[in-house]
Amino acid sequence: MSNVWDAVTVGRRELKNRLVMAPMTRNRATADGVPTPLVVEYYRQRASLGLLITEGTQPSAQGQGYMLTPGIYNDAQIEGWSRVAEAVHAEGSALYIQVMHAGRIAHPDNTQGGLQPVAPSAITPEGHMHTLNGVKDLPTPRELSTEEIASVIEEFRTAARSAIAAGADGIELHSANGYLLHQFLSENSNQRTDQYGGSVENRARLVIEIARATAEEIGADRVGIRFSPNNGAGSTQEGAEYAETYRYLVKELAPLGLSYLHLMHIGDEELLEWIRANWPQKLIVNRPGRAAEDIGSDIEAGRADLESVGQLALANPDLVWRLKNGAPFNQVDQSKFFGGAAEGYTDYPTVPEDVDSLV
Ligand SMILES: Cc1cc2nc3c(=O)[nH]c(=O)nc-3n(C[C@H](O)[C@H](O)[C@H](O)COP(=O)(O)O)c2cc1C
Repeated sequence: MSNVWDAVTVGRRELKNRLVMAPMTRNRATADGVPTPLVVEYYRQRASLGLLITEGTQPSAQGQGYMLTPGIYNDAQIEGWSRVAEAVHAEGSALYIQVMHAGRIAHPDNTQGGLQPVAPSAITPEGHMHTLNGVKDLPTPRELSTEEIASVIEEFRTAARSAIAAGADGIELHSANGYLLHQFLSENSNQRTDQYGGSVENRARLVIEIARATAEEIGADRVGIRFSPNNGAGSTQEGAEYAETYRYLVKELAPLGLSYLHLMHIGDEELLEWIRANWPQKLIVNRPGRAAEDIGSDIEAGRADLESVGQLALANPDLVWRLKNGAPFNQVDQSKFFGGAAEGYTDYPTVPEDVDSLV
């Protein structure tokens, strides 16, 4: 039986433990999408976890949805990420860059060049978006042409190459939480009539083509993928067939030999069990809101190889130390999640600084 503190091999890296930092958007890059020295420090602080998955990172200007998110499509961004990779490696952890195309969860004010969002279909999602010019309604996206879809695949391919050039250990394809790839998977956001819409096979086609292209580019063992079956994010409704969609994806992706599948798991235990039995590579399970005392339980029960945590890692730079020593946890400050500077980002105390609170 494995334990969360056991070493494990993921792709080409031996990880010191099985606790993973879940990807978290923090909106602290420059206006050009470059990770700053503060971003380097944020990841460095959290490198006691075995694997850090970065915040969603756009593969192109068009792929940006929120303001001040980092990119991985030009030299300055690659250079910025290389400092992050260097710092994380120096602490003995590994780094995967999450490649995220926001699709229709985007606003022109947040992109370079004021671009209209793109999506599988021109369907307006519900909701609002913070922009540098205030909170605005999400606009109606433009439907991607079949030819443009080929360019999106190439953007992911180039992003994969750039992530490796930056020294990352791999990439995570963001196919979850209502962003572009999830918009293709979901029935209500994908009403296309070409080979990318309609049946389960067609809606899954783009995800599979991107997985193949990026695996071909950098090696399958440096490509992970994230799913969030039926979580309804970004106005997606996957319909009654959602489990079939993910079973199909798992069957098609399994032979590629990807590094891992990262599941944001919201309660379909039967589907989780099925995926566990049918996915031959590493499985990372994220249970939103998992209590600290439950960390490791999916690994011990054999349901996962690794577990990822978001907010606990965000608020506790020394999370591994605290868990091992039974120390209390910092409270997360949600008001500082998105944007700002060091406050609520790199200034969460570690126990040695804060040791009085223990006695
Ligand atoms: C501030 C914040 C930003 C997030 N950004 C992303 C993201 O960029 N990509 C992603 O896949 N998930 C993102 N998530 C979801 C987390 O990866 C994770 O699944 C979620 O927080 C649930 O885990 P937790 O309860 O341990 O925090 C974000 C979550 C938070 C709190």
